[in-house]
Amino acid sequence: MIVPGSSSQQLAAALADATDHELATATYDRFPDGERLAAAPAFADAETDHAVVVATTDSDEAWVELLQLQDAVREAGAERVTTVIPYMGYARQDRSFKPGQPVSARAMARAVSTGTDKVVLVNPHEPAVADFYDVPVTSVDAAAALADPLPDLTNPLFLAPDEGAVDIAETVRNAYGAGDTDYFEKHRDRDTGTVEITTADASVADRDVVVVDDIVATGSTMSEAVGVLRADGADRILAACVHPMLAANAVTKLRAAGVDRLVGTDTIERGCSVVSAAGAIADAL
Ligand code: R5P
Repeated sequence: MIVPGSSSQQLAAALADATDHELATATYDRFPDGERLAAAPAFADAETDHAVVVATTDSDEAWVELLQLQDAVREAGAERVTTVIPYMGYARQDRSFKPGQPVSARAMARAVSTGTDKVVLVNPHEPAVADFYDVPVTSVDAAAALADPLPDLTNPLFLAPDEGAVDIAETVRNAYGAGDTDYFEKHRDRDTGTVEITTADASVADRDVVVVDDIVATGSTMSEAVGVLRADGADRILAACVHPMLAANAVTKLRAAGVDRLVGTDTIERGCSVVSAAGAIADAL
């Protein structure tokens, strides 16, 4: 039984189709004081002993809902629980950057581990966050799907906005089947959040460029990269990411920088989520 969190209903449905499993109709309520109550239906079929909770954690409320659904499916009769976290929030807080700060990714992972037998993550920001869980974790790479919606490209370059995203840029390039890969140097001021991008080695003039990143959050990284590429004479500029968080004014920043198209997966369900991570998750399940 696939049990969706409220923000992962499309992905859960796609996953139910891909795995030929049943999709539970979970409910998401709130008490007058704001507390949440996410619930799963009772498993009428005695054969249904395995619940797969699919819940992205793009907000604090979503984390609470995930923990509630894990507990709810046990109450509903599940003997085994697998937790799919399509986007793991707090994964970028994977260390204590200043004395006194928490390792938030570890705190979240420990909480999730208490309610599940297994975890599936999709392109976690740092692969090492998998080690924070106390149960077995499978990390899947959904980036290849980002090649599907790309149009025919002229002399394409798949560019990572920083070195950390080179692997997924290569995944998309390989899935597309042609083009080069390169990366920018990036510096982010931790206090102001300002991002500075330094041009890559590859010439971009008159080329179609696909900027590939794991996540577009505030859009600072992607819009800076797009701005540099525009200034350097790139032809079409497409932005592709696994996790389209698109916080605050990210969409406007990208538009103002001159991006031609933004595509993402449904690990976070947004208007640009034109491809699904369901296939990659189904393989892992
Ligand atoms: C950084 O290492 C990541 O790969 C992304 O580039 C970054 O997290 C995106 O954040 P923002 O959209 O806020 O610049």
